[in-house]
Amino acid sequence: MSATPLWKGRLGGALDADFAAINASIDVDRRLWPQDVQTNRAYLKALVRAGLVTAEEGRAIERALDAVARDLAAGAVAFTPELEDIHMHIESELAARAGECAGKIHTGRSRNDQVATDVRLFVKEQAGRAVKELIALARTLLGRADETRDVLMPAYTHLQRAQPVLLAHWFLAYAEMCLRDIARFAFARGQADALPLGLGACTGAPFAIDRELLARELGFAGLCRNSLDGVADRDFVVDYLSAAACLFVHISRLAEDLILWSSAEFAFVELAEPLSTGSSMMPQKRNPDSLELARGKAGRVFGNLLAMLTVLKGLPLAYNRDLQEDKAPLFDSADAVLGVLPVVRKVIATLAILKERCAEALQGGWIEATAVADYLTRKGVPFRDAYKIAGTIVRDLAAAGRTFADLSAKEWRAYAPELDAGIARAITMDAIVAARDGIGGTAPSAVAREIERLGAALAALEAEEDK
Ligand code: ARG
Repeated sequence: MSATPLWKGRLGGALDADFAAINASIDVDRRLWPQDVQTNRAYLKALVRAGLVTAEEGRAIERALDAVARDLAAGAVAFTPELEDIHMHIESELAARAGECAGKIHTGRSRNDQVATDVRLFVKEQAGRAVKELIALARTLLGRADETRDVLMPAYTHLQRAQPVLLAHWFLAYAEMCLRDIARFAFARGQADALPLGLGACTGAPFAIDRELLARELGFAGLCRNSLDGVADRDFVVDYLSAAACLFVHISRLAEDLILWSSAEFAFVELAEPLSTGSSMMPQKRNPDSLELARGKAGRVFGNLLAMLTVLKGLPLAYNRDLQEDKAPLFDSADAVLGVLPVVRKVIATLAILKERCAEALQGGWIEATAVADYLTRKGVPFRDAYKIAGTIVRDLAAAGRTFADLSAKEWRAYAPELDAGIARAITMDAIVAARDGIGGTAPSAVAREIERLGAALAALEAEEDK
């Protein structure tokens, strides 16, 4: 392998060793080799088409490219920091195999348009995979919602028991978030879907390279229309990282809910054993590490977004080497997204629901209080007065260690004549949830409608993604 970097146009001598260590990105960008092989193939075709490489040379370089791809796939290419990055490695491997004519592949091309193209291919693929994983997660949430239409539990505000809700409604809340995350990843994929290749270092290529052909070959929907922007733009990375960050906001909230609920204090759910860990010291422990890691990775994923924004801020046009720092945050978030989503999906799919415990948590905490006020309101009492009456009852019950169920008809009426024989039925848990039957409410009828609607939305997305 040549120790003289391929970029040594006017420079002589060796690089300072410490600088060489930070200059090389091969340890990070080696994973872009499939994308780089792909862009090389397409570019070679365009060069042959433009008459810049003869058909015979084209065949020789193509054969060399096949061999390099095979070796890369087999892990048989030795990476060296002297060759800096994946582009240099592939070019140098081509030269070793196809001889002198391989040098023609860099005609009109720069690593600047090359790397921008590779990274766009990577983001498109990763965003597409995230969309698929999110569809699968939303399907799983929907399935669990379908099974838990009759499981009642408290809804919390301020982590205090607030009102009864169907567990199905909770599953659907996260399915809604999935749909929004899908839209965000699909947006990032769309933003990445323009081709920089053929723009050269910064001002375009002085050769008749058919960029439309390149775009078709590489599956890009369009072209980057300005060379200065095209080689320097990493907005699409920001969009991907921001979609990932928002996803991890959601994942961390879901994880937090389930971590709490799997504690002995709540005991609403139990994580499947293969998704839990024990303690090396306390034999009784069954820890929700899978969810804690999902929650914890949010830290890095948010940091990656900030890292990318900061690299881009104030960067003069066009390409600057700072941009090499796009890959580590991108890869790290991509790995977190595709690593964590299947785990969360499996946690949801295998979660045991401790239905009785959920129901128990509705008892004894005066969770019916809003319904008492609502009942009075329906009888014509202004809500603020109704609220006060219900509050007084709760205060008295709390002082006496009693619950609403302990009140006699006479006691009810003593608080307000409107609290008649109907009140007992109106404040059963079933009646409370059934009353919330408008769009977005937790009534079984409303939840059934949403399960149907979300199912149809997911089917449409699945059809779209399978196209
Ligand atoms: N490894 C570089 C990167 O990731 C490739 C582009 C280098 N271009 C240059 N002009 N030095 O950005």
